[in-house]
This record gives sequence, structure tokens and C-alpha cells, in this order.
Amino acid sequence: MENQLDILLVSENESITNQLLNSLDREQSLITVIQSDDVSREVNRQRRDIVIFVQTENDYAVEQIQYVKSVNQKTLVIYLALDADINNLRNVSRAGAEEFFVLPEEMSLFISRFPTIQKNYSIMLTTEKEQAVTFGRGRGQIYSFYSGKGGTGKSLIASTFAQTLKLESAAEVILIDLDMQYGGVETMLSIEANRSIVDLKPVIEELNENHIRNVSQTEKNSKLEVLISPRDAEVADIVDADFITRLIRTCRRSFDYCILDLPSHMDSIVAAAMEESDKIFYVLLPETTSLKVLKYYEELCDRLGIHLSDSLEIIVNHLAKENELKVKDLKDLLKYPIVATVRKDYKGLQSFINKGEAIRKRQKEKMIPFAKDVRKFTRFVLS
Ligand SMILES: Nc1ncnc2c1ncn2[C@@H]1O[C@H](COP(=O)(O)OP(=O)(O)OP(=O)(O)O)[C@@H](O)[C@H]1O
Ligand SMILES: [Mg+2]
Repeated sequence: MENQLDILLVSENESITNQLLNSLDREQSLITVIQSDDVSREVNRQRRDIVIFVQTENDYAVEQIQYVKSVNQKTLVIYLALDADINNLRNVSRAGAEEFFVLPEEMSLFISRFPTIQKNYSIMLTTEKEQAVTFGRGRGQIYSFYSGKGGTGKSLIASTFAQTLKLESAAEVILIDLDMQYGGVETMLSIEANRSIVDLKPVIEELNENHIRNVSQTEKNSKLEVLISPRDAEVADIVDADFITRLIRTCRRSFDYCILDLPSHMDSIVAAAMEESDKIFYVLLPETTSLKVLKYYEELCDRLGIHLSDSLEIIVNHLAKENELKVKDLKDLLKYPIVATVRKDYKGLQSFINKGEAIRKRQKEKMIPFAKDVRKFTRFVLS
């Protein structure tokens, strides 16, 4: 069935398990039975709709419910208690369980209510999906901004894009500065912080959304979450490709959009980020040397086994009358789609850059040409 619910039954009690499997309405759902030890692995593996816990002797339900909720706030948690200890039930509810039933007395009540619980959950999912269209929510999209040439405007476009996304939609957005050595995003958004990505290192094995939000900074105008770079090559050394992969995968689960600002060199971190990206927006200047660098980048990706054909899209920056190449020429020369053009706007950008001020502050405001072009691109992505 298309809209089947994915349900985990966490139980070590065989007779209850069998009773549940025999009597629960399973037309709408796929129920997987797991042991208590496997909870974290199983909720991490894929999005779960409902998790049903059957109380065990050494009950870790409170911690596990909190964990399930931290992975996906929307997962519905049902707790089946084997004794009516009111303190335990209170703790379980506080941890996030939406419903509890005390067995054996309430077994038949639970079984009869289960179809309604499933139905209400499905309705909630569909309404969310409909809202998603109007609000432009796009669960777990990873977008990278890259160019093989330095100084083409990656950081400026990535950060303005992220702010615009946050201001113009209800989406949860995080911007991550992966230029480990030089950073850049923190000055553009005038963020002063002593915490950077490397502070996630101690918890990387069990990383969840709360860890990330503890280290990220909230940009004060757009309320965009930002993970800044350590800006220190030596410190950055403790971050490797595996770290980046885990970080991005956790962000995919917790945010609607995760925007990566990449440096222009290629190393294992950048390659890992590209592999995890749904789209790589390549920032190209309309000149022949930039095209040569793009060609070199393609060859490099080929050798590294990074497949670009589905994910690479071009943003032409510094568009101006005097450009060596016109957009039309580029269209003929490139095999990737051009999804945006951004005008050269030294005059508009100057005061923002000098003051280290965020380009976007409010949803409705007077905008410089650069910001207008990035907004057009953002709306295109949201549409
Ligand atoms: N459309 C534009 N018009 C005028 N100036 C621009 C434009 N885009 C970027 N710039 C300027 O170019 C400079 C470099 O921009 P930015 O730092 O975003 O590039 P980058 O590609 O991230 O560089 P790096 O490779 O060092 O990370 C900045 O000073 C920025 O103001
Ligand atoms: Mg940069």
C-alpha cells in the first residue's frame, strides 16, 4: 500500500508481541518487532511513523523515547506499561510518549483504538504535506555551493540564499561553512562565536539535532541556523570525511534545507560533502578561464568517482554588459543547466561587505540588485 505506516514494536515479551501481531489492524501498516537494544539503530535507519514500547524489566524507555523524539519529533510514541506505577507513566509522558495503556487491563482498549490512532496520524501527515507545498518545505535537501576557482562569490551567494530561504518560507534551514581554513560566512553575517563545527567532534558517533543546535548560532535577523568554521587548519585536521558524512546525514533528518558553503580546493571533506549533496550549485564567472577550471573540475570528479550529471547546476555570477561571454554562449558551451544569473553589483554590495552586515534582514525590505537576483533563484528552488 502506498501510504503504509512504518511501525516499530519494541518488545522483549513474546506473548504480548504475539497477541499484538495477531490482533492489531495491519492493513495500513508495516510492523517490525525489535529488541530494546536496537532502538537507536532502527530509528536512525529510516523515518519511522509510530514506535510502540512494551515495558521491560530494565526499562530504558524514558531515554529511548527522548531519543526517538530527537531523531524525528513527529514520530508518534505509544507506551504499553506492565504496571501502573504513576511516576513511571508520568516520566514516560514527559519524555514525549503521546499515549500509554496499562496491560493487561487495557489491552483490548488499545487494540480497539489502534485503527483510529493510525488514521489520525495519516491525516496529520497528509495535511503537513499539503502545507509543505504552500510553505515550500522540502524535508532534508542538501545544497552545496562550489567553484574550482576562488573568489567567485560562493560564500556570498550561499549565505544570501540561505537567509532568503529562511525569510521566505517556513522551512528549517541550516548554513554550514565548510571552508575549514578560512571560513568567511561568520564575517558576512557578523556572527561572533566561540563554537564551531569541530565542537561536535566528541559527540559525532551519536550526533543528533540537539547537539547541532547547541553548537550552531542563530543569525539574528533571519533566525537562520549557522555552523561556522574553526578557521584554523590545525584544529580542522580532527575533522575527516566520515565526520562530514555523519554531520550532513543528521542535518538531512533535522532540517528542511542544509546549505553547504565549500572552499574552492578539493579534498576528502569537500568530496564527502559533494557525495551527500542533492544539488551542487557551481558558481561560474562568464569568462573563458572559469570555463577551463570547470572542465578541470569535471575531470577530477570523474577520477574520484563523483557523478555530477544529476546534481550539478550552474549559477552565473558577475553578470554585466562587458562580460567576455554572454549567457547564450554559455548555454551552448555547457552541458549543465544554468539555473540562475546574478548581476555584478559592486555598488550595492559595498556597504554590506565593508560593515560585515547581512544582505537580507526582513521579508519585505528594499533590496539591492544582488539580493533580488538571489531571491529569484531561491523562489525557483522553492517552486
Ligand atoms: N555579483 C557580485 N557583484 C559584485 N561583487 C561580488 C559579486 N559576487 C561576489 N562579489 C564579491 O566577490 C568577493 C568574493 O566573494 P565570496 O567570498 O563570496 O567568494 P568565494 O567564492 O566564497 O571565495 P573563496 O574562494 O575565497 O571562498 C566578495 O568581496 C564579494 O563581495
Ligand atoms: Mg568562500
